[in-house]
Amino acid sequence: MDDLTIRTHDEIARDILRRNDRGGHTIPTSGLYPYQWNWDSVFVSLGLATFDRERAWRELDTLFEAQWPDGMIPHIIFRADDPSYFPGPSVWQANNGPLASSGITQPPVAASAILELAREEPERARPYVTKLDAWHNWFHEARDPDGLGVIAVTHPWESGRDNLPDWDAPGDSINVKDVGGYSRRDTDLVGAEMRPRKEDYDRYIALVRFGAERQWNQRRISAESPFFVADPGTTAILLRAERDLEALAQLLDEPSIGATKRIASLEAGFDRLWNPEAGNYCALDLRTGKHAEASTSAGFLALYAGITDRKPKLVEQLAAFDHAVGRLVPSYDPRSSLFDHRRYWRGPVWAHVNFMIARGLLDIGEESWANRLRGDTAALIRDAGFSEYFSPVTGEGCGGGTFSWTAAIWLAWGLGEVEVLD
Ligand code: DGY
Repeated sequence: MDDLTIRTHDEIARDILRRNDRGGHTIPTSGLYPYQWNWDSVFVSLGLATFDRERAWRELDTLFEAQWPDGMIPHIIFRADDPSYFPGPSVWQANNGPLASSGITQPPVAASAILELAREEPERARPYVTKLDAWHNWFHEARDPDGLGVIAVTHPWESGRDNLPDWDAPGDSINVKDVGGYSRRDTDLVGAEMRPRKEDYDRYIALVRFGAERQWNQRRISAESPFFVADPGTTAILLRAERDLEALAQLLDEPSIGATKRIASLEAGFDRLWNPEAGNYCALDLRTGKHAEASTSAGFLALYAGITDRKPKLVEQLAAFDHAVGRLVPSYDPRSSLFDHRRYWRGPVWAHVNFMIARGLLDIGEESWANRLRGDTAALIRDAGFSEYFSPVTGEGCGGGTFSWTAAIWLAWGLGEVEVLD
């Protein structure tokens, strides 16, 4: 009888989150990503909060358990070795925190999710205020040591948008000569045409070895790494997170945090990312002073960060993306020759990025564009399933399947309520 039951997308989404639960933390999908990932886990907490609030808090608790003494929260937490993933804990050799982890971080979405959960349960959020303050402060010290007001990434993985073309030119100076032999696992599980290329992986692994050789001393890494690129995605997400941390501290009457000063620094620095030729906020290679050449989905996150000086231009860019492909928001400019509609961050649409961009659009009163993003995201998932990402050209689901953050965004954004238009 069970096999004949027709399940709603809400039920399937909840089921995916339960199946990917590894006891207090949720993996993105089995096989391809068998550990706890930082920003994945935070989006998962928003999805869990729609049906199990205690489990949502637990997701955040387990993430923060891995916080390093310097404040950093790592991008992967390795609770047990799993040979289905490379590079695992023995390659990272990052033993600087209480749990085995990677040696880099990921975009700091946690404060924004915690503020959302805190509106109903403020006291549960109180212990997070100082932890968030330490993590945000770490970004400024370790990823903006010159106080430019823009946040650098020291590895493409740190941006969360791994193989974006923006990292190609800055990555040219990474020495891959001594990277040695290694065996990727991802392409055993997902078609190679949807994953980063071999030349990208050589760079990823060379940077992991570079950090491990420096025992993940972040001061040395930011001073010496060949790869130090200011990222509009991380900078915008941090700026939003700082504002949300400030709101959280006010809600809880916790005055002594440094968010106000850090907000001023990011607001003053953000325009350094503006690339007039691209007509968008773009990555800035801090070693060469050169901007990346084309628009990416991260540029639109300026609105999510409350940076509104150039909003007409951003809406114009969004319309141009729409005109080119008809499904929003491609991760890379679909008019560029480097656009690749199925290859990970070189073109595909990602549900969690749409969720954040739509929030920014709502904040500036662009309700119809925000609804458009919500509708596109719902239609992609409804037609192609809970995939990791989607082709903006064909609507095909790409990458891993039964993906936690896609399920979580479905629930948190109430996509089950979006009307189906034929
Ligand atoms: C991977 O291994 O593809 C991950 O995105 C790294 O974070």
